[in-house]
Amino acid sequence: MKDAAPEPAAGHSPGGGSSGPPCRIAVFASGGGTNLQALVDHFQADADRGAGIALVVSDREGVGALDRAARAGVATRVIPAGGRAPADVAGDILAALDEAGIDLIALAGYLRLVPADVVRRYRHRMVNIHPALLPAFGGKGMYGRRIHEAVLEAGCRVTGVSAHLVDEQYDTGPILFQWPVPVAAGDTPDTLARRVLRVEHRVYPVVVEALARAVAEGRRGEPAAPDPPAAFRLHETAAPTEAELRRLLGLPG
Ligand code: GRF
Repeated sequence: MKDAAPEPAAGHSPGGGSSGPPCRIAVFASGGGTNLQALVDHFQADADRGAGIALVVSDREGVGALDRAARAGVATRVIPAGGRAPADVAGDILAALDEAGIDLIALAGYLRLVPADVVRRYRHRMVNIHPALLPAFGGKGMYGRRIHEAVLEAGCRVTGVSAHLVDEQYDTGPILFQWPVPVAAGDTPDTLARRVLRVEHRVYPVVVEALARAVAEGRRGEPAAPDPPAAFRLHETAAPTEAELRRLLGLPG
């Protein structure tokens, strides 16, 4: 039903509210919540960013994300998903989102497939951060350490972060933004995960702010990121010279 343009949550008017930020964000998290923390810090630092974290939803009790939310004064809801019918889970999630007047959802380490009814209601208004360059190294079971193990096993020299809109499957929605991260010689899954996570913390809050702006302005969830990041532009415009390639590959000049 509601799957075309972004719609405000019931009883709430993005961009037009008289109290609180114009765009109210729910963060879904199952784990430690460092990306949640980056989002909270970003929006609490400057009220002019036009959005705020109004709710944290977790499928698990006792996780770090819930502690971080409580410390930041953000409301929390635990909505278990294991062994339950997706429609029941969706009903609980949508009730919580309606009650909190949520305009936009940011997944941050949420390890469950978002039920289809929730995807339909929040299509173009739900974003995820993934610690690799999609569409590679994504999909069911590709989370946490496993991603970085797979990147290293494949011998990749570059990995990165991807922010994408959420659809009915794991990691397949339209990509909004990517940033490359080099793989270093001698990397382990843990050293690589740390390097990627630092970039996630930098990238995700800004992408979520751009999406929040798009939602508040009534645009579809397509934040203004038409230009490739500078790192990509550099490669596009500056192909390596043969001399440079020979040096890099250890060939005589
Ligand atoms: C991050 O790497 C994120 O990209 C992925 O899950 C991890 C969550 O980490 N989806 P944290 O809970 O935000 O620390």
